Amino acid sequence: MIVCALAALWYGLSCTEASCESAAEAVTPSQANPNGDSELALLMRQMFEEGQRMKEQVRKGEKVTVSVDYARIHTAQATQPEKAASDEYRAFALSYEATMDAIREAPPAEAAELYDGMVQACMNCHQALCPGPTVRIKKLALQ
Ligand code: HEC
Repeated sequence: MIVCALAALWYGLSCTEASCESAAEAVTPSQANPNGDSELALLMRQMFEEGQRMKEQVRKGEKVTVSVDYARIHTAQATQPEKAASDEYRAFALSYEATMDAIREAPPAEAAELYDGMVQACMNCHQALCPGPTVRIKKLALQ
């Protein structure tokens, strides 16, 4: 019994890591094959592309524009729905949403600081729940 329970637990943990690990290896968003990818994974790729675009706007001192429907982070179906249903996920998602709400309203002079906060919000959730993509997310940092 104990061995079975441990095996199930271990298997569960391995699966969790594998899904978030392989996500990190998806080469570029345009090469990604949407077949079999969850809504949340597809949304995350859009968020990453959006982040790259926003970073350029911040660097150029332009007003940052937002086109991705980021509030869907609360409802998009995840590869592992139980993960996205956790209190921890919800708290991280709210904090990410708040930084996006702020940045889309902000004048260019405040954009860099808010943008840093957004990248940090991505990292906070990923370090806790889905470490694979952190390598890619680091590339969004301004310096
Ligand atoms: C509230 C938690 C949370 C926040 C905030 C968050 N992510 Fe994610 N991210 C996830 C989860 C969970 C997955 C796994 C999605 C799945 O497989 O369904 C994921 C997956 C990804 C992936 C891999 C997608 C693929 O190709 O499979 C990338 C890249 C990513 N996130 C980037 C980002 C970026 C960039 C931000 C900030 C702009 C961000 N994430 C914010 C939880 C989060």
